[in-house]
Amino acid sequence: MKTLTITRPDDWHLHVRNGAVLQTVLPHTARQFARAIIMPNLKPPVTTVAQALTYREEILQAVPAGLDFTPLMTLYLTGSTTADEIKKAAESEHIHAFKLYPAGATTNSDSGVADIKAIYPLLAAMEQYDIPLLIHGEVTDDACDIFDRERVFIDTYLTDITNNFPGLRIVVEHVTTAEAVQFVQDTGNNIAATITPQHLLFNRNAILAGGIRPHHYCLPIIKRESHRLALVAAATSGNPKFFLGTDSAPHLTSLKETACGCAGCYSAHAALELYAEAFERADALDKLEGFASFYGADFYRLPRNSGTVTLKKTTWKVPSAYGENGLSITPLKANEELGWKLQ
Ligand code: DOR
Ligand code: ZN
Repeated sequence: MKTLTITRPDDWHLHVRNGAVLQTVLPHTARQFARAIIMPNLKPPVTTVAQALTYREEILQAVPAGLDFTPLMTLYLTGSTTADEIKKAAESEHIHAFKLYPAGATTNSDSGVADIKAIYPLLAAMEQYDIPLLIHGEVTDDACDIFDRERVFIDTYLTDITNNFPGLRIVVEHVTTAEAVQFVQDTGNNIAATITPQHLLFNRNAILAGGIRPHHYCLPIIKRESHRLALVAAATSGNPKFFLGTDSAPHLTSLKETACGCAGCYSAHAALELYAEAFERADALDKLEGFASFYGADFYRLPRNSGTVTLKKTTWKVPSAYGENGLSITPLKANEELGWKLQ
């Protein structure tokens, strides 16, 4: 039986929500990953150190007994964030980054940043206190085609940010285009990117061809095949600028399968198995450990994990949904077979 053993991985971009959804999804992540960067786009958003510490406690309460999992908290950047809060965040052992959502770009981004130039003093403070900035890199301009929004964000904002704040550590989250890969490759070592499993496994036909598939709809939207190939090449290159971030984003099935469905793929149930499938198809399973277990920790200046996880080459069928007591979350690849199983 073929197996693959790697150092225990981390998820460098994760949504776990709160309440009953948190209880349903967190065990899936804690089973596979030692740590995860927790996104702050709750309703209301997590904007202060005090709120993040309360949210951290709620997450820790949801970790199943016997599992060891550490949530790495982030704060939601707004136009009203203060330099003092940035300093406090940088000094907190539990806060690891700020997240920049352009206002209106995605789920719960209404409180995000409307005028990116106006927050340059805050970016200067992040650079000074050396706390990373995580960016949802899409313009929100209605006139911009949804498939172009990442590329245009790079040209309009990202290049200028990296030029103005050369010491700021930045993660370009969930890159989806060849242009974003190129940008990250061509800029300094303080610029990195996360890549999701859905952007490695699917192109946009998976959303739109042969019927509309809401469970493949996420933001930034999955692009055409040439972009997928660029992402696979980056993820499997061994370049430490690219590391694992699922962007697992659970929504109730009823809010996905509707006339105006929410953006987000729920992938935490089988995250590592999904990445293994993508790396195996690229004949690059030997590159999975660096991507999943080393490069993110190095970027965030955290120790690499000790301990290992083992994947076994065996087929299993993903359930149609997860959740109890009327709560239903449809996972990525629901009712389909996967070729790797975490032991
Ligand atoms: O598809 C997405 N879902 N993209 C995001 O940026 C946010 C996320 C969510 O929170 O649902
Ligand atoms: Zn996200």
